[in-house]
Amino acid sequence: MNERMIEAYERGWVMFALFMILVFLVFIGYTLSGFAFYIPTSAERIDPTKVLAGGFPQPHVEEVGPGKYQAYVIARAFSFTPGEMHFKVGDEVTFFVTSPDVQHGFYVHGTDINVQVIPGEVAKVKTKFKRPGEYLVICNEYCGIGHQNMLGKIVVEE
Ligand code: CUA
Repeated sequence: MNERMIEAYERGWVMFALFMILVFLVFIGYTLSGFAFYIPTSAERIDPTKVLAGGFPQPHVEEVGPGKYQAYVIARAFSFTPGEMHFKVGDEVTFFVTSPDVQHGFYVHGTDINVQVIPGEVAKVKTKFKRPGEYLVICNEYCGIGHQNMLGKIVVEE
């Protein structure tokens, strides 16, 4: 190789490195735009001291359309209310989960549902149940002495 060839070779790698920096910046921007989308708006904030006093709907499951449900869940030390929910395969369910006390988790084993439940916010998560079975609802954020017993159940029927 003569000197000019080395220069071209080096320039090629410098260009490649610059190009990769650009690619990563685009990825970072894309990721940040995704997070921005999930930052709760003021409408999803709630006064945690009023959750049990009517500031949040009574925990229940509501049919809002054919095969479409909304579930209002309160996560508190150390239980979920409702503790058991029933759906059918194909049902599309939007969960609204909040906490009147400390931070909890709302993780439904075997599904894509896994949200932090932070006092002062209403976590909103939507899913479609594709398989029948019993799904365990698990609090996966340490919340105190009864944390490991904080479980619920979702039953999905054919
Ligand atoms: Cu609630 Cu851990």
